[in-house]
Amino acid sequence: SASSSSIHDNFLKCLSTHSNQSPEIPIYIPNTSSYSSILQSSIQNQRFLSSTTPKPQLIVTPLHDSHVQASVICCRKYGLQLKVRSGGHDYEGLSYTSDVPFVVVDMANIRSVDVDVEDGSAWVQVGATLGEVYYNIAEKSRTYGFPAGTCPTVGVGGHFSGGGYGALVRKFGLAADNIIDARLVNAKGEILDKKSMGKDLFWAIRGGGGGSFGIVLSWKIKLVPVPQTVTVFRVNRNLEQGATALVHKWQSISHTLPRELFIRVFMGRANNTINASFQTLYLGKSKQLLNVMKQSFPELGIKSSDCAEMSWIQSALYFADFPANGPVNLLLNRTQMTTRFFKAKSDFVTEPVSETGLKGIWIRLYEADEPLIILSPYGGRISEIGESEIPYPHRDGYIYEIQHLVYWDKEGIEVANKNINWMRMFYRYMAPYVSKSPRAAYINYRDLDLGQSRNGTATYSQARAWGVKYFNKNFKTLVQVKSKFDPDNFFRNEQSIPTVPA
Ligand code: FDA
Repeated sequence: SASSSSIHDNFLKCLSTHSNQSPEIPIYIPNTSSYSSILQSSIQNQRFLSSTTPKPQLIVTPLHDSHVQASVICCRKYGLQLKVRSGGHDYEGLSYTSDVPFVVVDMANIRSVDVDVEDGSAWVQVGATLGEVYYNIAEKSRTYGFPAGTCPTVGVGGHFSGGGYGALVRKFGLAADNIIDARLVNAKGEILDKKSMGKDLFWAIRGGGGGSFGIVLSWKIKLVPVPQTVTVFRVNRNLEQGATALVHKWQSISHTLPRELFIRVFMGRANNTINASFQTLYLGKSKQLLNVMKQSFPELGIKSSDCAEMSWIQSALYFADFPANGPVNLLLNRTQMTTRFFKAKSDFVTEPVSETGLKGIWIRLYEADEPLIILSPYGGRISEIGESEIPYPHRDGYIYEIQHLVYWDKEGIEVANKNINWMRMFYRYMAPYVSKSPRAAYINYRDLDLGQSRNGTATYSQARAWGVKYFNKNFKTLVQVKSKFDPDNFFRNEQSIPTVPA
């Protein structure tokens, strides 16, 4: 229509007036092939690739900080909903879909990684992927690493904003626990750093979830020491091989092991039987690992032939399902090898699930296309850090975290409903075994079933539905920070932090 195209023209004029750096800010409009390929470039969940998924009116791909500032100023001026996307891995597609007309600011081009070995730190721009971060650290040093997620295509922008859990979590905590400075564009289009944003806002952006407080441009991270040699193993055990007793035992010991040892469990169906896969990173040599396993978990029967010694960066390849001896630049690949349809949820556990409870899980794993239940250990550093140190509250008292996932490969409402309904049923089944009031959830495994608001306009009491699950007592503080720094609720999404009147 005429009015929408004039908004369009004015908006574009606004952008070029406010971006004081050449080249001009790249902009993509619907019904062009570059628009579709940019939009699809980082979509991870096929559910949101369909023709019925709401699409942005425009996509801008800033090349400079000033382009990001211009995007904020002009979206605000013309009342356009802005969604920021870094790696596009949001489980519910919130970085590139919306229930009202919107613009996507895609940060993929702003992605340098500057490692300062002397200082033991790095400045990482938000469009970088975890793989790019790990690669660049390893290029400069064999004895530094960083504790973040295991999937190399995940974006730093969303991941660090929500926490960031990976194989170094027991030794060093979350990614967000290791952020020491940040640069952010606020709702006025100003650039702030740790000092100028003040301690409350700096607290909120390290775990309070992406999309509520501003557009982060870059993070300064503290690198962590890793040994020259680490050891990995992955062993599978089916029911006949004692999977039930092994998973039961894992629950009571995985959080008490030395913090150099991270064992997570993938539970699913393989060859029509239940399978538990124990995937391990040990910060040390295989001989020491075998000793620890013999003492703490002899039932798993780990032998020296199960173990492989390698550098930390090779273990990043290994955890990403690449060959550990493959070229390290596989980590630079920004797109997933395959994207599928999926739905996920999360839980936190304080007491081992009984063997009877586990058997109930096994039965249900036969009822969906491809369910996968991932148990990730707690204990060590992640559990030591105080509940309000950063907004991520799930700390002492939990013995492990669960990610419930279900995948499917066919397009269509029926197969989607079948699997999504299965996931909801499974979540109800798990209720007696997991945390209660609140039933804790991890913001980076975003789940719109927990509640959502149209156009990000939830009231405080509506937003408590998901806010308390994601942030527990920190939710209240996040609302106060939000109300102070973005009182007009410019940065919002279906599950963002709400404002309250002053
Ligand atoms: P995306 O760009 O979709 O952003 C996510 C949210 O943050 C959106 O609300 C978005 O608007 C906002 N946002 C993005 N950039 C921002 C910026 N610059 N400033 C402010 N807000 C911003 N998690 C984990 O802890 N450990 C793991 O090992 C994994 N592994 C994993 C594998 C796969 C295949 C997927 C799909 C996801 C994971 N995750 C994960 C979950 C992941 O941490 C989560 O989806 C992150 O939010 C993704 O960040 P992206 O930048 O990629 O997402």
